Formats: sequence, structure tokens, C-alpha cells
Amino acid sequence: MKIAFVGKGGSGKTTLSSLFVRYLVDRGLPTLAIDADINQHLATALGAGDETAMTLPTLSAHLPLIKEYLRGDNPRIANAEAMIKTTPPGAGSRLLGVVERNPIYDACVREVGGARLAVTGPFAEEDLGVSCYHSKVGAAEMLLNHMVDGPGEYVVVDMTAGADSFASGLFTRFDLTALVCEPTLRSVGVYRQYASYAKDFGIRIAVVGNKVCDADDLTFLREQVGENLLCWIDRSAHVRAAERGAIHPIADLEPDNLAALATLRDILDATDRDWHTYQRHAVEFHIRNANAWAGAELADQVDPDFVPGPHLRPQSEPAVGSYS
Ligand SMILES: Nc1ncnc2c1ncn2[C@@H]1O[C@H](COP(=O)(O)OP(=O)(O)OP(=O)(O)O)[C@@H](O)[C@H]1O
Ligand SMILES: [Mg+2]
Repeated sequence: MKIAFVGKGGSGKTTLSSLFVRYLVDRGLPTLAIDADINQHLATALGAGDETAMTLPTLSAHLPLIKEYLRGDNPRIANAEAMIKTTPPGAGSRLLGVVERNPIYDACVREVGGARLAVTGPFAEEDLGVSCYHSKVGAAEMLLNHMVDGPGEYVVVDMTAGADSFASGLFTRFDLTALVCEPTLRSVGVYRQYASYAKDFGIRIAVVGNKVCDADDLTFLREQVGENLLCWIDRSAHVRAAERGAIHPIADLEPDNLAALATLRDILDATDRDWHTYQRHAVEFHIRNANAWAGAELADQVDPDFVPGPHLRPQSEPAVGSYS
């Protein structure tokens, strides 16, 4: 199951991503965390010291390897260079499990605070031929396009602020998009913008209130987002302690906040992914990119009969306990 945390800058996307990852890991569930924000803070939120956070390998620095591996022997992709962020998997492509041993994870996934983490890396201009940071998250988009996760396995992605994520196809890759919303007009404004885009693509959004202090905050959120308010996290002493460098076990999170994380997981688990739609969205964005900038001939990379899914996952070596 794939979940993204989106919302206004500073609303708490990284904080809630890290809490949810730690919640899943604490239950021994197979989980991969991905930091796909330009401001890379997820490692720190998971408990990495500054030096570790600065020296983590990045997905974007390993693009040639990622492309070469995922391409496999798909005859529609002539070589790794021909692969762009939206190139959809087809017959012969390599598909990924959430937890397994493969060259991409060996190179890019590290254990941080007990969680497996991949980071896209800070902004650089040259990736994938497009001079904007959307290309930076291209590596994450490629991984998600080829990820055939099953129920009870989780990919948690900390996304970039605001509605910018709609500039790439990345936002269609999730079973649930958790929109982190503070009880403020500006945060609600981002929610409205996101909700209207999402509707056009049938994207499932759930609002997770954050930094809720009192009944007035809650009333405000309920008035503004109505039944889309799934759950909320109160202003948390546990989170503030983490800001001071004291990361306590997730089991010590305030009970109401823990219950909110459980609600989030329940909703995610109850999602029934339609792999046909999943692939159709991938193909749609690929054709759009091919026509817009990559070259119309890249439409030939689409394998019209291919539908990904966990049943296509190869038997791989069992995952090792630590990637560090
Ligand atoms: N529930 C909470 N209780 C107390 N403090 C919180 C809570 N949620 C977030 N914060 C604090 O709010 C600040 C912003 O949180 P965070 O960095 O998670 O936001 P973000 O949406 O990821 O920001 P950015 O847009 O910069 O990536 C941090 O200092 C964080 O500790
Ligand atoms: Mg953040």
C-alpha cells in the first residue's frame, strides 16, 4: 500500500510521515520510507544525526543504475538512457517488492532509526533533462511505477509542499493521499486546491488534521473540510521533544495521536487497488511527457497489454535485516 503525505509548507508532512513510518515499523510491518521533498528532512525526523542525514546515498545520484535495473530486458526500452521518469513497466521490466534484496535498494536504501529509507536527494538541475525539481522526484516516480506492493506492505512518501506535486504523475501513484491540514485558512486553501485536482484523476484524499490544540480548532477543521477529515493529531509534546533531539519510542506517543495513526492504517488497508487503473495513469502521464518534451517516439515504450501486480514479482533473495 502506498501513501503520500502532502499539504501546505510547514503543516507537518515530514512529522506525520515519520510518525506513521515508525508506527508501522514498530509493528514489524514491511515498510519503505521515501523522502521526495526538495527539503530533505525525513531522515532527521526518523532520528538520523546531521552527519548521517548529509551522507545518505540518494536515488537521483543512482539514476543510471535504477534505470538499467528496472528496464530489465524489456524490448521496448532500447537502453537505460531512453528511460524517462514516466516510462511504464512492460513485459521484461523488473518489478520491485517493498522489502527484498536488489541492486537499487543495496545502493540507495539505508536503515535510519529502525526504518528503511530512500531519499531523492536535494535539488540539482541536470536530472532527466528537465531543469526543475519535478525531475528530482523522477527517481521516486520510477520506483513507484515498478513497485508491486501487496496488502500489509507499506511505502510512505514525504512529498513536496503545496499543490506542486501535480506537475508530475507522482500524485497518481498512491492508494491514499494524506493531506496534512492545520486549522488555518491557508492550510485549508491548499487542501481545496489539492482536492479539486485530485477529483479530476479519481485520487483518494483523506485530510489528517495536525497541530490541533482545542475544540475550536477541531470545529474549524470540521466546518472547512467536512467528512474528508479522517483523523487528527494534536499539538504533541512527543513531537516537540523530538524537535529537541529526544526521540522517544513511538509507543509513548499520546494515546489519541496513536489512535489517529491506527485510523490512517485502517483506511489504507481497506483500499482495494485496481492495477489496471494504476497502469493506465502511468501510461497517460508517459504519453503526455512524450508529447510535451521527451519525444513522441517514446510512446512506443508503452506495452499495451501489460498490467503489473504482485503476482509478477520474482522470487528474490530474502531481505537482510540491515542495509546500513
Ligand atoms: N503535531 C505536532 N505537534 C507539535 N509540533 C508539530 C506537530 N506537527 C508538526 N510540528 C512541528 O511543526 C514544524 C513543521 O513540521 P514539518 O517539518 O513536519 O512540516 P512539513 O510540512 O514537512 O514542512 P516543509 O513544508 O518545510 O517540508 C516542525 O517544527 C514540527 O516539529
Ligand atoms: Mg517536510
